[in-house]
Amino acid sequence: MRASKDLRMFISEARQLGPKFFQRVERAVDPKLETCVIQQKLAKEGRFPFLRFENVVGANLPVVSNMFGSYDLLGLALGIDPGDQRSQILQAFREKTANPIEPVYVGQSDAPVRQVIEKDEDVDLTKLPLIHHSERDSGKYITCGVLLIRDPDSGVINTGMYRHELKTNNAVGCMFNPAHHAAHIYRRYAELKKRMEAILFIGHHPAALIGSLAEGSIETSELDVMGGLLGEGLAVTDAETVDLPVPAFAEIVIEGYLDPLSETSDGPFAEFTNFYGPHKEQIGLMHVTAITRREDAFYHDLDPAHQEHNLANALSLESCVYDSVKRLVPGVTAVSFPVAGSCRFMTYVSIKKTVAGQGKSAGIAALAANPNIKTAIIVDHDVDIYDDSRVLWAVNTCMEADRDLTLIPNALGSHLNPSAYGEVRDERGPLNTKMIFDATRPVNKPFEEPIRPPADIWDRIDLKDWLC
Ligand SMILES: Cc1cc2nc3c(=O)[nH]c(=O)nc-3n(C[C@H](O)[C@H](O)[C@H](O)COP(=O)(O)O)c2cc1C
Repeated sequence: MRASKDLRMFISEARQLGPKFFQRVERAVDPKLETCVIQQKLAKEGRFPFLRFENVVGANLPVVSNMFGSYDLLGLALGIDPGDQRSQILQAFREKTANPIEPVYVGQSDAPVRQVIEKDEDVDLTKLPLIHHSERDSGKYITCGVLLIRDPDSGVINTGMYRHELKTNNAVGCMFNPAHHAAHIYRRYAELKKRMEAILFIGHHPAALIGSLAEGSIETSELDVMGGLLGEGLAVTDAETVDLPVPAFAEIVIEGYLDPLSETSDGPFAEFTNFYGPHKEQIGLMHVTAITRREDAFYHDLDPAHQEHNLANALSLESCVYDSVKRLVPGVTAVSFPVAGSCRFMTYVSIKKTVAGQGKSAGIAALAANPNIKTAIIVDHDVDIYDDSRVLWAVNTCMEADRDLTLIPNALGSHLNPSAYGEVRDERGPLNTKMIFDATRPVNKPFEEPIRPPADIWDRIDLKDWLC
């Protein structure tokens, strides 16, 4: 059997790096709330290890979580040494995604994910260690499964992560943001009056999972992006009951279809916004036709109210903002999605400004890159955008709101943002008022000089030689 990058390979890499990267929990843990509270208590202490829960009450499979808990873990997924600069992680992501690799086909007998096959009346999702994440959640959710579907018009495979509430022992909900490609594709199946076949795979190498979240064109297959990030074609095989490719080295695969004529509802559900997302009517319902898995499968969970939810998407969002700004402002120097802004809602962009107006242009381009972005803060290249305090310093010293703050009301944003509104202003809906903070300094006019420590003395002084 050929070797292929997978979740197990990543677990052993992370384990070798010690407790900052990987920790095991051997005590029995309740799948209702306890795994998440352990993760959240660690976060409170500034600790973000990838976690492996060996003994989940009522389950015979171990659970892993917090795979995307820190930038160090994201870097490790892409082969960046811990401690390297944050900007190198984005650079690696961009280089790898610029070189997509098509999937490679392997025979069904070479696919570890087919070691156990359950079909029809043997399908029982309740045997998986699904987690109940927050007290007011409407139920148990699969939070880290990748849904794989085919665009009925182009035939291109689309992937993404969506929340999936357990509905019965053979059905889960599928909640798509109306702005996302999956929602567009699902609406097309409804127009065509056809069922949408789907695969939900759980557990794989994080490079593959990050690739599944690529925010590129609907014409790009994320399977190729996953290959680029893995550095090898994603191994796929035939599914058991649907006509879709299945990642052969995944841990668990759930096969089935969504019938747009039979929908469900979900929520409330604790979200990346740190608020409970509201109850949603008329969301997709996936009828499960088969579950295949490894004999000793790991179940991969993600705490949706923890920063790992936001970081999972961050590189992809940073990269698409970088591309968008670069087209309008070639001097873009860095892009980040700070955890402080719920990641998806706010981006910081630094530019080497050479012409008046480029700060605002960079803001327009950043907002245009992705519908979820509500706030774009643009600063000069000498402001460290990985340090929130420096960005806030620039906002409060370099800009004046009447001139440098731009508001764009009634724009398509995130339906999960608690302050979002509908076409009628006091209704809930997916509209946001977008904000551009142009905190760049003028290029042609004198402006106070920022203080910088003298570079030669800074480099020369090593504190451990000076302090006793
Ligand atoms: C853990 C996780 C959960 C997510 N949940 C949802 C969700 O419930 N609905 C949704 O539309 N997007 C969700 N997203 C965001 C999408 O997966 C992401 O934006 C993806 O690129 C969308 O792909 P698409 O535009 O091809 O549909 C989630 C992302 C992550 C990392």
